[in-house]
Amino acid sequence: MHRICFAICAAMVALLSISAVAAPPPLSHFANANDEAAVLTGRQIYRERCAACHGRNLEGQPLWQLQDQFMHRRAPAHDASGHTWQHSDDDLFAMTKNGRFPGVPGSIHSYMPAFGKYLSDREILDVLAYIKATWPLGIRVSQSLLNPNFRGMPRDADKVEWTLPPTCTSSYKRWKVISR
Ligand code: HEC
Repeated sequence: MHRICFAICAAMVALLSISAVAAPPPLSHFANANDEAAVLTGRQIYRERCAACHGRNLEGQPLWQLQDQFMHRRAPAHDASGHTWQHSDDDLFAMTKNGRFPGVPGSIHSYMPAFGKYLSDREILDVLAYIKATWPLGIRVSQSLLNPNFRGMPRDADKVEWTLPPTCTSSYKRWKVISR
């Protein structure tokens, strides 16, 4: 009896590990830029919580590409001129919830607050949905390539010009597989 149980368990473990290898990692957080209600709520939250640093029109702080005189980073643009679109939804969620470089001691200091104390997970996703909804279609296509299963890929993706985000060798590999 024990031997049969052991065999069944072993088979189940083997099956689970095969599917873990085959299946792409699940996307735990997705901000839906096509959800109008989420985008409207997100715009309100953005204006109250983010605009003071990232700019009312998502343009970032002046000279955001440069560190300030204390070696601190300025708030980058969230529009197409910034690099927010070069991160997956999961990354953007984590950076907004936990701040930048949480737990990194010493030299790297970031002014990006951790919003986990002030905003619910839903509210964080709403702000991200708003930010994503402001992007031109080509940028939305590029950013969706960073999400598992290309989640968030606009339906009319083939009608616009887009490029792969420079940070994403892994999505390039996945892209080559599906575009064969
Ligand atoms: C007090 C100023 C301040 C506020 C308010 C603020 N941020 Fe930031 N944010 C920053 C700074 C500074 C950085 C750059 C951090 C770094 O690189 O160390 C940053 C970086 C980010 C990044 C990373 C972007 C990238 O491409 O690396 C995201 C995402 C982000 N902020 C989202 C938000 C959201 C969403 C809100 C509002 C809910 C918000 N921030 C409010 C200052 C702020």
